[in-house]
Amino acid sequence: MNPDEIRSWFPGTRDKVFLDAACVSLLPRQADEALRQLSDAFLACPARDASAHHIALDRTAESPLREAARLLGARVQDIALIESTTHGLQIIAAAVPLARGDNILVGDIEFLGVAVPWIPRQQRDGFEIRVVANREGRLRVDDFAAAIDAGTRMILLSSVQWNNGYRADLAACIDLARRHDVLLVVDAIQQLGAINLDVGKLPVDLLVTGGHKWLNAPAGRGFMYVHPRVQERLASPAWGYLNIREPAQGWASYFGDPSIPAVRAYDFTPAARRFEIGGTTNYPGNVVLGAALALLNQVGIDAVERRILQVSDVLLDSLEAVGARIVSPRETGARSSITTFTLGGGVARDTQLLNFLLERRILISQRYTANVGGLRVSVHWFNNEDDVRRLADAVREFLSS
Ligand SMILES: Cc1ncc(COP(=O)(O)O)c(C=O)c1O
Repeated sequence: MNPDEIRSWFPGTRDKVFLDAACVSLLPRQADEALRQLSDAFLACPARDASAHHIALDRTAESPLREAARLLGARVQDIALIESTTHGLQIIAAAVPLARGDNILVGDIEFLGVAVPWIPRQQRDGFEIRVVANREGRLRVDDFAAAIDAGTRMILLSSVQWNNGYRADLAACIDLARRHDVLLVVDAIQQLGAINLDVGKLPVDLLVTGGHKWLNAPAGRGFMYVHPRVQERLASPAWGYLNIREPAQGWASYFGDPSIPAVRAYDFTPAARRFEIGGTTNYPGNVVLGAALALLNQVGIDAVERRILQVSDVLLDSLEAVGARIVSPRETGARSSITTFTLGGGVARDTQLLNFLLERRILISQRYTANVGGLRVSVHWFNNEDDVRRLADAVREFLSS
């Protein structure tokens, strides 16, 4: 991997120190080019007719499906395209029946969006949301194990926490979930694109992600992985005409046949794509996500992860050298591409530092849940040692001002 070349793909890095991919990442040039090509097709309808144009638009799904499967080490038929992480969680909340006497487990430091899809349903359907408390910013498998009982149906977990970058022990969580036959639902938006997650080795039940963070595809498109064993057990909560398998004669001939009525037995897709919206959808999102994922796969997620952790090491040392306190876990396996720190003088003091940095075009963010968090720095593959040293130099300047 050539770090300078990768940086050149991201013009958004030129005029600022961008260390906030955990919020919304930058678009690479190649994805912008793919988007422009699609826009040209929207302008001109280059196909023979509008039906062929529609079919070509639907085919824009092929590249993000293929590339998402490659990134995850999954089969293409186990991937569905969704609008966002939230959309994926909503699909799961609607698909998994929960009733009085059932419970689901969620950590107290999760991003609020992980729990929200279940909160109104809890009142309506009468199940319990059990909150598992963190210990020093970590959600521990033993604490999930202690909260599980015969009524537990699901564990909701971010593989990397949004506020402190804590990476969960997914292997142990999978083991726990399987032993109790509960669904393990993983929000992987703060991991995918930065840290490898191979579902061949870590066979989670359901995984959801938006594309706008570490996947560098900020166009309202993400994907969902549905383990084959879950596909057998879970009905889609909603159906649309594009969830039907393409007729053998092709859609154009199908629509040209006067004899076919609207209401009949349809052949719905058996694959994960049956969880998709099933109508016209976010085609610009498809091409942006497909192009951005292709770049990641071309470089290789292992090389990306190594580079990120290498630059993060420089960040950790530089921040500590200027007197900041690191909030994030540091040991292999629990650390990620997110490094959170504090000056230790209270939230207001950290907010002053944030504003000081933003005025100097050094972009990071401040994030907390349940008293865990601080100033969050995201190191991505387009960042270099100079970025993180400039951040640390600015912290030193703030402290001496
Ligand atoms: C862990 C986590 N999940 C979900 C989201 C929101 O994702 P989306 O906008 O794709 O629903 C965020 C955004 O900060 C997040 O950090």
